[in-house]
Amino acid sequence: MEYRISDKLAAMKPSAIREIFKSLTDPSIIAFAAGNPAPESFPVEAIQGFAADILQNQAVTALQYSITEGYPLLREAVAKRQKERFGVGREFDNTIITSGGQQALELACKVMCAEGDVVICENPSFIGALNSFRSIGAKPVGVELDDDGINIEKLEEALKANPRAKLLYVIPTFHNPAGITTSLEKRRAIYALAKKYGVVILEDNPYGELRFAGEDIPTIKSMDEDGIVIYCGTFSKILSAGMRVGFCCAPNEIIQKMVVAKQVEDVHTNIFFQMICHRFLTDYDCDGHISKISELYRRKCTTMLSEMDKTFPKEVKYTRPEGGLFLWVTLPEKISMPDFVQKALANKVAVVPGTAFNCDTLAPSDSIRLNYSTPSDEQIVRGINILGELLNNELK
Ligand SMILES: Cc1ncc(COP(=O)(O)O)c(C=O)c1O
Repeated sequence: MEYRISDKLAAMKPSAIREIFKSLTDPSIIAFAAGNPAPESFPVEAIQGFAADILQNQAVTALQYSITEGYPLLREAVAKRQKERFGVGREFDNTIITSGGQQALELACKVMCAEGDVVICENPSFIGALNSFRSIGAKPVGVELDDDGINIEKLEEALKANPRAKLLYVIPTFHNPAGITTSLEKRRAIYALAKKYGVVILEDNPYGELRFAGEDIPTIKSMDEDGIVIYCGTFSKILSAGMRVGFCCAPNEIIQKMVVAKQVEDVHTNIFFQMICHRFLTDYDCDGHISKISELYRRKCTTMLSEMDKTFPKEVKYTRPEGGLFLWVTLPEKISMPDFVQKALANKVAVVPGTAFNCDTLAPSDSIRLNYSTPSDEQIVRGINILGELLNNELK
């Protein structure tokens, strides 16, 4: 049978990094390619306690259908925390609980974009978002990232050149994959340009809680006097990735449309896990927990950077993140990035080729993404030394 796959899906290629992810199940491989929270970061005992208590005292609520907008107590707790922590949410905004941050991004695009519309993105950008935009028939158009965020001149050019741009997707804090944070000045410029060109900003902040150096910078959503920012977050990086609980704060009219779109996707997000997330925010020292895991990531990131400083040739450039899970390494012209990724894998170190994060799937890249949350300290030291030796050999 020759299947007549829908055009939208037929155009989507299997992820270039799938083979590499497969290799991550091999315990002899050092995994710098994953994006998982550290295995030791989950508050297992607390979750066991909440789960037992909920099943003992609120079993029917936990096991019954629920409402699409999300568990009311969780929506309230999320809105409160996001307001206090990140200045997110005004009188015209509302909050919806989603199945991971991923679904929030997909719903936002589904609500805002028709087939053929454009989503302006930072390039490189988060592959999950790019693929969800593509699956809806929207076209990601990339604008290059500088060390302090998207290039503002090029952003304006892209906005002028793409009258069908409906959304501007940005990850201003601890970018995945680039590991950089957008400056306050650029956040203001992004907001001003979006307003000028009538484009809605989709601000993705899955890592904002995980700061281990420097000072917080206001979210773009906190500047949103005009109702032009859709803001997404998740419990994946602070509590559990497997629970699949995320959220979105946006003008109520947009949230109402997201509710309709979510109804046909999954009716509502897993209610039992929403109840656990609520207890995490209200009955637990969640700030203490977040500081503990941020400290864990600070240690792992510092270990990775100090080994890189010692072993990588000076022609290799890399970002120095102040939070989040990733850093971005740019190879000198003399080294072929795809060959290097294959050689690294042959030497039992898995990294992600930068091409995976390109808006234009055919464009080349001279960069790779490294993750420091998943490997142990010992694996970080060993893996970086292997990469360092390979890089030095390449430049001989
Ligand atoms: C930038 C970015 N946005 C959103 C997500 C989605 O997170 P979730 O696991 O909650 O769907 C991720 C996950 O890695 C991410 O890196």
